Amino acid sequence: MDAARPLYVPVILGTARRGRMSLPVANLLVAELSRRAGIVTELIDVACMSLRVDDAGEAIKDPTFSSQMNRADALVLVSPEYNHGYSGLLKHALDSCLKEYIHKAVGIVGVSAGPFGGTRGIEALLPVLRELGLVTIFWDVNFSAVHRVFDEAGALRDQAHLPRIDKFLKELVWMARTLRHGREHVALEQE
Ligand SMILES: Cc1cc2nc3c(=O)[nH]c(=O)nc-3n(C[C@H](O)[C@H](O)[C@H](O)COP(=O)(O)O)c2cc1C
Repeated sequence: MDAARPLYVPVILGTARRGRMSLPVANLLVAELSRRAGIVTELIDVACMSLRVDDAGEAIKDPTFSSQMNRADALVLVSPEYNHGYSGLLKHALDSCLKEYIHKAVGIVGVSAGPFGGTRGIEALLPVLRELGLVTIFWDVNFSAVHRVFDEAGALRDQAHLPRIDKFLKELVWMARTLRHGREHVALEQE
């Protein structure tokens, strides 16, 4: 019965920059998730969240985002590399929730103009995700020189990314199923 219940795996687009190339990347991840059986997904765009900037953390919790995080079994983060780190707005959005994330899977898709596919931003993001209670997988997806990867219509030019995305999503789904089983059936020992 449990296995028949779809996993909810939203894709968080972590930048509001005008002309952002992370948008076609996020759309591709949504498309790849959508064609898999047993998965429900949607795009969560930080640009549409209207997050307050006069406060931080759970004080600025957005009820819609909070319920999406509560419902989520796993997250895909599309994370552009900004000055060898992650986007400040992505961190601001993630910081607005806490208990919603616990024992849920997360995978990162790094995006960069340079040749390293956002790996420096990914490495910086990993300890943040751990602190949030998320469980990171050991696969990432990397989009280097992203301005060359998609055409003007946002279609993928370089099909070599697809097998990597497939491997990444298989691992993420395995972790999501395993953690959902754990959350629902394995008790945490109390002191
Ligand atoms: C503030 C800022 C800092 C950036 N720093 C880097 C960087 O350290 N390394 C890199 O490869 N690209 C860097 N870029 C380029 C982005 O990686 C590039 O814009 C890419 O397309 C992904 O981000 P986007 O979704 O904003 O387009 C930077 C862009 C901005 C706006």
